[in-house]
Amino acid sequence: MQRAFAELYQAEVYPPMSHPSADPAVIAGVARFFGVGVSKVERARILEIGCGTGHHLLSVASCWPSAECVGLDVSRKYIARAKNLARQAGLKNVSFNEGSILEFEPEGEFDFIIAHGVFSWVSNEVKVGMMDFIGKRLSKDGIAVVSFNVVAGWRERMLVVEKVRAIQEAGGVDEMTALAVFKTVASDRESEIVDDMLAKGEEVLACDDFGPMTDAWSLGAMLKLAELSDLRWLGDSVTGARGDDAADEKCKTTFRSEMFCRSDLLLGESMPIPEQVDENFKVPNFPKLNSWRLVCARECLPLVDPKLKSCVFPFSQIKVLSAMDGSRSLMDLADYSREVSPELDFLPWLKYVAERGFFS
Ligand SMILES: C[S@@+](CC[C@H](N)C(=O)[O-])C[C@H]1O[C@@H](n2cnc3c(N)ncnc32)[C@H](O)[C@@H]1O
Repeated sequence: MQRAFAELYQAEVYPPMSHPSADPAVIAGVARFFGVGVSKVERARILEIGCGTGHHLLSVASCWPSAECVGLDVSRKYIARAKNLARQAGLKNVSFNEGSILEFEPEGEFDFIIAHGVFSWVSNEVKVGMMDFIGKRLSKDGIAVVSFNVVAGWRERMLVVEKVRAIQEAGGVDEMTALAVFKTVASDRESEIVDDMLAKGEEVLACDDFGPMTDAWSLGAMLKLAELSDLRWLGDSVTGARGDDAADEKCKTTFRSEMFCRSDLLLGESMPIPEQVDENFKVPNFPKLNSWRLVCARECLPLVDPKLKSCVFPFSQIKVLSAMDGSRSLMDLADYSREVSPELDFLPWLKYVAERGFFS
């Protein structure tokens, strides 16, 4: 199975993608919600494990010219392409290495270690080796982001994959055609899953849902492995929330992108932004962001406070902010928040939003 996957990567090019949840600036922003004041991104050492053709890391390197970016991937073809792209773009602050994480011995430690879309696509030996590497090579206040497929949501996806494969075999058609055929007879829930698969596109599906390996884990199992690697779990780099296996089962979570720091790092207070507190803040009965902040929320851009300081909110909180157009009462918003951001302690959070002057 692992061999089939390695061959797939040598033969085909995984679509070039960049990942907002693995942007060091976003990671550093979300880490503040968990009381970690990470090193400045500007001069950070950033490692991406399983960097593919380097699309994400090259984007990071071009944003942060004084940061040192290092990419690692086992695929010769991908690393050759990544090096070529770096040369063409004239980027001097990024280097790419061909090889497995099991044998990788770079110099020093890293302030950010990113492993996006790797954990569920490698053998258990590589999973353990990767987490062990991260535990040993993360700097004192460094942050690692490791994403993985979650078994709670993946279970029902695999049932859909089995049915679609049966249609493929019977009709001798490709995956996309078989998906479209299956959709005509699928239940509502199956139809939602099919839509999500179709939206990913053929190339991603070939390595993902229909790939030779998509090993889904539970959060609990992941956290046990992290603990064994001397890593401390902070929370999700997309939602800024934590959650647990029971919540994942309820929400049928399919994917997590989790942040870890060293187990010996002492956490400070979360979101300490005291100098921005407005003593005259007031939580309105019908919270309303001004039109620019509403645009920022709806476009998932950082919201800027009256002192022109940006604030990165996790995606689930952005959804609540997007609903603050003055048409919903506090009670309505609290209900909505429970629906889209169940982990959020709504009233204290709203007070914080008011303190930052977002309603002025
Ligand atoms: C699903 S792709 C993800 C690529 C990219 N990180 C992304 O999310 O777009 C997984 C990548 O992990 C790489 N990989 C697999 N096993 C590896 C190993 N042992 N060490 C380093 N990279 C590995 C593959 O070659 C492939 O490029």
